[in-house]
Amino acid sequence: MQRETVIVLDFGGQYNQLIARRVRECNVYCEIYSYKTDLEKIKAKQPKGIILTGGPNSCYEPDSPTYTKEIFNLGIPVLGLCYGAQLMMHLLGGEVRRADVREYGKTEVQIDKTTSEVFRDVSEKTICWMSHFDYIAKTAPGFEITAHTADCPVAAAENADRSLYAIQFHPEVLHTQEGTKMLRNFVIDICGCAGDWRMDSFVEQSIKAIREKVGNGRVLCALSGGVDSSVAAVLLSRAVGEQLTCVFVDHGLLRKDEGDQVEAVFGPEGSYDLNFVRVNAQERFYSKLKGVEEPEQKRKIIGEEFIRVFEEEAKKVGAVDFLVQGTIYPDIVESGLGGESAVIKSHHNVGGLPDYVDFREIIEPLRDLFKDEVRKVGLELGMPEYLVFRQPFPGPGLGVRIVGEVTAEKVRIVQDADAIYREEIAAAGLDKEINQYFAALTNMRSVGVMGDERTYDYAVALRAVKTIDFMTAEAAEIPFEVMQKVMSRVINEVKGVNRVMYDLTSKPPGTIEFE
Ligand code: XMP
Repeated sequence: MQRETVIVLDFGGQYNQLIARRVRECNVYCEIYSYKTDLEKIKAKQPKGIILTGGPNSCYEPDSPTYTKEIFNLGIPVLGLCYGAQLMMHLLGGEVRRADVREYGKTEVQIDKTTSEVFRDVSEKTICWMSHFDYIAKTAPGFEITAHTADCPVAAAENADRSLYAIQFHPEVLHTQEGTKMLRNFVIDICGCAGDWRMDSFVEQSIKAIREKVGNGRVLCALSGGVDSSVAAVLLSRAVGEQLTCVFVDHGLLRKDEGDQVEAVFGPEGSYDLNFVRVNAQERFYSKLKGVEEPEQKRKIIGEEFIRVFEEEAKKVGAVDFLVQGTIYPDIVESGLGGESAVIKSHHNVGGLPDYVDFREIIEPLRDLFKDEVRKVGLELGMPEYLVFRQPFPGPGLGVRIVGEVTAEKVRIVQDADAIYREEIAAAGLDKEINQYFAALTNMRSVGVMGDERTYDYAVALRAVKTIDFMTAEAAEIPFEVMQKVMSRVINEVKGVNRVMYDLTSKPPGTIEFE
């Protein structure tokens, strides 16, 4: 069965993934492709609608990203946003020019054509997010202006007969107060999508597809305890039960009690039908990391050792038919395979593709999903909330939260401080608001006094950030009382710590992790 799809054609804008997510929030499946993708490939997808994204260029410059104007003749509705709107006008005979001033930020937009389908049920004056230098000076023949602002004569235009819509602002950004409504109007009313992309049917269909593919085959999965690999493992377990073996390597750099929690859920006492293998490789990792201070070298050692351990276990399991990977859609887009966004992350992930394992094929059951959808699948599968809503945790674990040499003693300090910090943040009701927070060890020791004793102990750094995409981030504002409580508990309860600091650094120039 052909899945109802809307295609986002990516011209390099920073919000491209957000557009796809918003479309999916309308229960419509959506995929991102680079503007370099051939029209034939787009046509073969039989999309119900196409959205052209924003981008950093000027469409009238000779080398700027462009597309064949054939795309407007397919009889498929097209919505151009920002650069996409300008490009639509430019290609169809309108005029785009450089403005004297940039229009940026929340802006009041006046809807001139209240009967426009894309603005159905939208207020006549509505706040929208603008971010552009170029503007549409003249619409293309056949288009009418449907909205404007004080500075921008064409905030939106359309040729309703041909189902072509141009919007200068960004409906995908939440600052555009009625943006979701506009996108919904486009995908549901204009494109005629049924909006039946739901996680319950995703689960049902995936299980069926996995069963068909796997047959009687054997499946191996590297389980990290993180959201993606856990959800992938549960999905596989639902589909093929004990044909699945999950190998969980405890590298001794997990959060406090995390190894036991993973075992409690997936192990023999847990709720799932699978073969669970836990490898307690803590000492092995600590001994490899002894004396190593350089961050990249530590990451390398952890990554390589992980592969070695996994390899040894895989050998014990023997030949398998399939290897499961918890790849998700942003991994695909960010690695340059989907949209146009630059390869920003090339994280050295524990569990990178182990090419030595004897397997026939890879299964990536979550490769079409965004993180929030993966979480919904987890809930759909009845997984516990604390697993499903777990915050991101890097593959190399506490290895990137301890500055300098990693030792068992330092791991214990970070684990204990971090557990207290997480407890207090949750108690203050802040855990859902802050995107990532943790304790790290600065590796700095200084003089303090405890009772009548002089101390010479470590300083723990607390980190908490707000971020949408983890590529930029701001330090979160945490009430001072909460901080004080964490500080006093950490110093009193964690042996070896006599100072607690809050890391205020944004990213950039900092990174989120502390290594
Ligand atoms: P940075 O420190 O690069 O982190 O600002 C951005 C986000 O990526 C996570 N991170 C990693 N995740 N393997 C991962 O799976 C890694 O090696 C790794 N390094 C950083 C980090 O936790 C944050 O969410």
